[in-house]
Amino acid sequence: MLFSPTGVSECFREWGDIEKDYQQIQDTHRLYKQKLEEVTKLQVSCTAAIERQRKKLKELSASLEECKAKHPEQKLSPEDVESIADIEVSIGERDNTFSEMEAFLPKKNGLYLTLVLGNVNVTLLNKQSKFAYKDEYEKFKLVLTVILFLFSFTCRFLFSYRALDAMFNFLLVWYYCTLTIRESILINNGSRIRGWWVFHHYVSTFLSGVMLTWPEGTLYQMFRNQFLSYCLYQSFVQFLQYYYQSGCLYRLRALGERHNMDLTVEGFQSWMWRGLTFLLPFLFFGHFWQLYNSVTLFKMFQLPECKEWQVAMCGCSYMVLYLGNFITTLGVVYQKYMKNQDNKSKSL
Ligand code: COA
Repeated sequence: MLFSPTGVSECFREWGDIEKDYQQIQDTHRLYKQKLEEVTKLQVSCTAAIERQRKKLKELSASLEECKAKHPEQKLSPEDVESIADIEVSIGERDNTFSEMEAFLPKKNGLYLTLVLGNVNVTLLNKQSKFAYKDEYEKFKLVLTVILFLFSFTCRFLFSYRALDAMFNFLLVWYYCTLTIRESILINNGSRIRGWWVFHHYVSTFLSGVMLTWPEGTLYQMFRNQFLSYCLYQSFVQFLQYYYQSGCLYRLRALGERHNMDLTVEGFQSWMWRGLTFLLPFLFFGHFWQLYNSVTLFKMFQLPECKEWQVAMCGCSYMVLYLGNFITTLGVVYQKYMKNQDNKSKSL
């Protein structure tokens, strides 16, 4: 409990203490502002130094290329050729190091974030906040996945109202829009999310928006059950993805490091490979369902009673989603397979 003075002399003494505390607070705040200014100056000088080095490295790479091209005339010794190769490797590595440094420096937002948020700084300046933001993103996806699962189940099996379907599609539009914003912030903070997954969410926003405007009618009813069943399945797959992705995140965090480590930590690699191979059949089944949706819609488009433009639009969107998801997932799997093989051969 706080001390409450009773007599006047006690009040004066208390006031004296409060004054001293107040001075202390002012000093601490002054120091804080001074450090903030120092940090800002360091940020500016670090960013400028990286930019300068990048420019110099680019020029040096071009000069080295030129030297190599003129090799027979300039008669480079084997040592020179070897040194050039070493420098080129170091230049490649330095670029990765700079990218990791930049993840901790404020930077200008891209076009999308500038349009949505304005030019506010979204760079988180320490590892804990970055991890917390990514963790929060995964949890947000999980909560919305459960809500979307229940919603699509209700629409699919319990109530068949166009208004309820519209609410479901509106929720999807909002969800995917939010994901694109959060993912842009994550990329700004050094996440290596592939461009396709972000684009995939733009396409999904568009698709849900088109579904929202599709008027009630025979064709809508023809596609409705297939669409809702697909949404149910997608929520289920998203649930599995959550376990895989948050597992990766926590394991990497427990290992204490991020991107440069996950190439070498053997136990992590094999855990990730096992998780991925478990997930893959479900993912590919989902991709083929997208293809099936697209083919169904294109067939519907050929029917004489088809008047709605939404049929062709949704058909095209599903085709884009199928092709992009399928090709990108194959690429990710190939890359991880090669890394896994590489690690196995290193450990032998
Ligand atoms: N959405 C958002 N972020 C994703 C993502 C996705 N689909 N796939 C990967 N990422 C993120 C990872 O979390 C990681 O982020 P970080 O750098 O902040 O840690 C980064 O991208 C690099 O991930 P990567 O190592 O390339 O892949 P992964 O092992 O995390 O995931 C897959 C690989 C194949 C499991 C994942 O990409 C995936 O689930 N893809 C399928 C999505 C799909 O097809 N959905 C429709 C289903 S019907």
